[in-house]
This record gives sequence, structure tokens and C-alpha cells, in this order.
Amino acid sequence: MLTRLMAVVTLIALLGTNPALAQSEGAVDAPDAPASDATTLEDILARQRGEDVERTNRAAEGSSAEEQARGMLGTLGGASDSLLWEGLRFGTADITTQAGGPAATVLVQDGGMLWVGWREGPLRTYGGYLLLGTIGLLALFYLIRGRIRIDGGKAGTTIERFKPVERFAHWLLAGSFILLGITGLITLFGRVFIQPLLGKEVNAWLALGSKWIHNNVSWAFMLALVMVFVFWVIHNIPNRTDIGWMLKGGGLFSKNSHPPAKKFNAGQKMIFWSVILLGGSISLTGLSLLFPFEMPMFAATFEKLNAFGIPGLIGMEPFPTVLAPHEEMQYAQLWHAIVSFVLMAIIIAHIYIGSLGMEGAYDAMGSGQVDLQWAKEHHSLWVEEKQAKAQSAPADATPAE
Ligand code: HEM
Repeated sequence: MLTRLMAVVTLIALLGTNPALAQSEGAVDAPDAPASDATTLEDILARQRGEDVERTNRAAEGSSAEEQARGMLGTLGGASDSLLWEGLRFGTADITTQAGGPAATVLVQDGGMLWVGWREGPLRTYGGYLLLGTIGLLALFYLIRGRIRIDGGKAGTTIERFKPVERFAHWLLAGSFILLGITGLITLFGRVFIQPLLGKEVNAWLALGSKWIHNNVSWAFMLALVMVFVFWVIHNIPNRTDIGWMLKGGGLFSKNSHPPAKKFNAGQKMIFWSVILLGGSISLTGLSLLFPFEMPMFAATFEKLNAFGIPGLIGMEPFPTVLAPHEEMQYAQLWHAIVSFVLMAIIIAHIYIGSLGMEGAYDAMGSGQVDLQWAKEHHSLWVEEKQAKAQSAPADATPAE
């Protein structure tokens, strides 16, 4: 790491102090033909006016680097500083470093500006509104529908819904996800909300602590994700009863309407698969961020998406398939955060329905025992199955204490 830093610092110092070296093609080659595009005075003036400057491909017009350089701003020799810095900026300069992998040769990375713009702009804005909007909608739902009650009243008899090991997996998943969500939000929003209120010092400590918690708790989340998948996948395979449940909106919007369901209804199956797929994607990109430059995955993914014509289907240009190592990290960060926001919104709704929103639901994950009437109303087919099994092994339904 230190060697890499020293190599970079030495190179920059040499370029800055020795114009002869900076202009010699031996130190850092001028941009290779395809993406060469030196800056002209016009370009600079246009940028200063805030206009979008097209990066023209001058090399493709058939001129050599020397010819391109002639007539450009401040050009004295065959290759100008401008050409050199363009090459560094757009990754076309031929750089050799003593140590480090491909990431060490990237001295300037233009995509970084785009990433910063996204992270500080739409990601914060839309992500924040998504979470607030979800909470607002749930509050509205609560005001209109109220708490979903056990229509037939409590039976006073309970039935086992989840075994201790299942509840352990659920709470490990829940606890870790909540910690990851909070620390992730502090990392993204700290400067905007915490710093102005509590100062830089407090924000810095919170950011440092959040990073530590986030990095380490991620393992618990991944472990719990695998456990939950193994325990519940069999009950979450879609079947015909899900269609009827969906058509009736799960009975959520009307009283005394209880479409039949097995262990998990269609709504819960959607939660389950969101947790597995989105949680899996968050885990993969998280690992890629945890081990920088070791697990690049976006160029390869983009290549596959392009091969299937996906960008065209959504009216976009083909995705870039040649990415600088840093760009890989930037895409990983953005995707990690976007998918996390979506999953957080889904989980906020899940937490609501599993606690405040529905009478009797929390017991399933609290004690593991649910009231028989609750079970009959929300999971009638599952109760029938359990009771049929209980005939060969009684003592499944035990009187409530
Ligand atoms: C404090 C927060 C939470 C509460 C009160 C809660 C409550 C519950 C309850 C009561 C159930 C069982 C529902 C039933 O018996 O049918 C359940 C299931 C489940 N929970 Fe949570 N949960 C919480 C957080 C989470 C989090 C953060 C995740 C994932 C990141 C999660 C993922 C699941 C999954 C996948 C299921 C099975 C599918 C389903 O029932 O929707 N839960 N939860």
C-alpha cells in the first residue's frame, strides 16, 4: 500500500516539476488513438459557461498525436500537458507502476465525478423519499383500515408456528439488517443531517463506528440469510392458492375476508423472495466493497445484459463493458445502496404487519405459538395440514396458559 502510494506521489511530483519529462512520450505515453481528445481553449471556455462539452475523437480523424497537439492550448512540443492529463483522466495513458494491481495505474478517474453526483444527488433524494413515503403510506393504511383483528376472537388454544431455531435465524436476520440499515444510512446521510446538527467531530465518530459495525455485522446477515433460505424455501414455492389470495388482496382491505393459505401466503412469499434475492444481491456487492478490486462483477454482468439486449428493451444504450477498477467499485456502491433502499422499504412494511398492523402476528416470532383462531383465519390450509398430522402425533395443539 505504502509502496503504491509512494509510486503515485513520485510520479505526480516528477510530472509537476519537470516539464521536459511531462512532455516526453517515454514517461507516460500520450493517449492512444481511439479515445484521444485534447482540450482546446474553446472546450475550456464552453465548460466554464456550464455547457456540456462533447469529447471529440480527434485521433480518429487521422492525425498523429503531434498534429493533434499543434494549435491547442499551450502546446510547445510534440505532446502537451493537456494531452497527457486527458490520457490520465480517461484511462488511455500507458502507465507502469512498480507495485499494485490494475487499480494502481489509475491516477485520475473521470467516472468518479459521475458517481459522486449520483451518490450525493438522486441516491440520497429518491432513497430518502422512498423510505419516508413508505412510512407515510403505512400510516395512512393504519388510519383507514386500523389494526387487523382476529375476526372470530381468540380461541385460547395455541399452535406452534416456528421452532426456536427458526426464530433464532429470523431475529439474527432482523437484528443484523436493522443495524446494517441504520449504519448505512448514517454513512450516506451523516454529512447532510448529523454534521450540521452535532458538528464534524460527532459525525466523524459516528461514521467511523458505523463503518466498523456495518463491515462486521454483514457476516451475521449473510449467515442468517442462508439459514432462513434453507428453513423456509420449501414453503415459499408459489402454488395455485397464491392466485386466489392475490385476487382477494389477501383480505387485508376488508373485514371477515380470509382467503385460504398454506404456511406462507402469497404476500409473505413475496417478502421471502425479496429478502433472498435483494439480500443476496446486497451481500454480493457488499463483499465486493469489503474486498476492494478483488471481486469486480459489473463489466461481466453488463456484457451478459447487453448480449440479451436488455438495455435496448428499456430504451438505453448498451452498458459499458470496459470498466476501470474504480468504476467497478462505484457501480457496486450504487447498486448496493439502491437495492438496500428497496429492501428497507419492503421490510418497513413487513415490520408493520408483523407487529402493530395485525393482532396475533407477533407471537409467531415471539413465543413461536400462535392463537388457533388467528392461524385458521390467516393460514387455514396450513392448520388443516398440521391437524391432520397431529392425529398421528397428538399434543400439537396445547391449551394456552
Ligand atoms: C422488528 C422487526 C421485525 C418484526 C416485528 C418481524 C416480525 C415477523 C413475524 C411476526 C413473522 C412471522 C409471520 C407469520 O407468522 O406468518 C416474520 C416473518 C418473516 N420475517 Fe420478520 N420481522 C421483523 C424484521 C424482519 C427483517 C429485518 C427481515 C429481513 C431482513 C425479516 C424477514 C422475515 C421473513 C423472510 C419472514 C418469513 C416471511 C414472512 O412471514 O413474511 N423480518 N417476521
